[in-house]
Amino acid sequence: MSESKTDIRKGLVGVVADVTAVSKVMPETNSLTYRGYPVQDLAENCSFEEVAYLLWNGELPNASELADFRAEEAAERALSPALHEVIRAFPHGAHPMDAIRTAVSFMGMEDPEAGDVSEPATRRKAMRLLAKIPGAIAAAHRATKGEAPVAADPSLSFAESFFHLVFGRVPQPEVVKAFDVSLILYAEHGFNASTFTARTITSTGADLHGAVVGGIAALKGPLHGGANEAVMHMLSEIGDPARAVEWLQSRFDHRALVMGFGHRVYKNGDSRVPTMTKYAERMAEVVGDRRWMEMSRLLAAEMLAKKNIHPNLDFPAGPAYHLMGFDIPLFTPIFVASRITGWAAHVIEQSADNRLIRPLSEYTGAAQRSVPSMAHRG
Ligand code: ACO
Repeated sequence: MSESKTDIRKGLVGVVADVTAVSKVMPETNSLTYRGYPVQDLAENCSFEEVAYLLWNGELPNASELADFRAEEAAERALSPALHEVIRAFPHGAHPMDAIRTAVSFMGMEDPEAGDVSEPATRRKAMRLLAKIPGAIAAAHRATKGEAPVAADPSLSFAESFFHLVFGRVPQPEVVKAFDVSLILYAEHGFNASTFTARTITSTGADLHGAVVGGIAALKGPLHGGANEAVMHMLSEIGDPARAVEWLQSRFDHRALVMGFGHRVYKNGDSRVPTMTKYAERMAEVVGDRRWMEMSRLLAAEMLAKKNIHPNLDFPAGPAYHLMGFDIPLFTPIFVASRITGWAAHVIEQSADNRLIRPLSEYTGAAQRSVPSMAHRG
């Protein structure tokens, strides 16, 4: 094959595709800000609802703005009877990411402002999605276990409500706080693959639900959001801290990826990892099971020593969710429940100053030729 003369950036590595005011990813200092605020400060000092408001409005809410935002979200949590019926009809064993992708698509058809791509309508639709996604995730998950859905309780915070919808009860505040922190850390991250997918779909003039369905499809992949599930499968396979180093060596020998490590942008450490690790450690203490964090510590040290590769957010999030009691197939859907905030912020931003996203490709296929008749096709 002849050498390309074009500057092709495979995977769009290093390409700056547009401007954004939503978040700033700074690999040189391993840091991340949402609308100017360091993500670790937001995680320690704010609730997920405050961060959702910040991402959508550019400023943190005051007390009355937050109360209104919470009330609006809580009032939209119930799913329609038709959606419950669709969820009950999902094939047994369907992955929850496929379930939530399909449920969001259905919500798009049901939405009273489905075809309206104006900013006010998109904001209202984003609120409805934020409110309904946890119920759809939980209902689909419970259906696979033969359990009826739990009715949403509007008196609960977003994080409390997620546990209530999945398990029918709210755990102790320390567990809710760790979960809330994970939602904040997962909420937004620049032009990652799923957000760029959502922006690309938006750039065609398509609606929010279409953009979010595309975002969910992109997030499912193990190189992106699916890694948090893959991390827990990996830790379960290792099973015992005593086997961690030996197991890792076998991955190196097979030149296989180690899930939860590496990042396209951060090469010296993911800004979100220290905060998530701290809360995952807390979960280990609460549950009284140090095995997973001990394994994680050994794997991270060995990856750094042998490959100079750092963990990403999915690495501590995986065991943290396991310790909170969630089944592994729920981990990436939880990422969806959070990232809907970032996706919607980008959809609004893309629409406000839109130009169709349409890059070029360099053709490397067969030279131009004539179409042979059927008798001459061998
Ligand atoms: N395990 C083993 N080796 C790795 C890993 C890993 N997790 N990540 C990168 N490397 C290696 C690559 O194979 C490459 O080696 P080579 O130079 O010998 O070919 C070298 O490190 C450099 O990697 P990059 O090319 O810079 O990685 P890229 O930017 O293309 O990919 C990605 C980033 C996809 C995240 C990759 O690190 C990966 O697959 N990680 C595992 C999946 C994962 O955890 N994804 C979650 C991402 S974060 C998120 O979505 C919240």
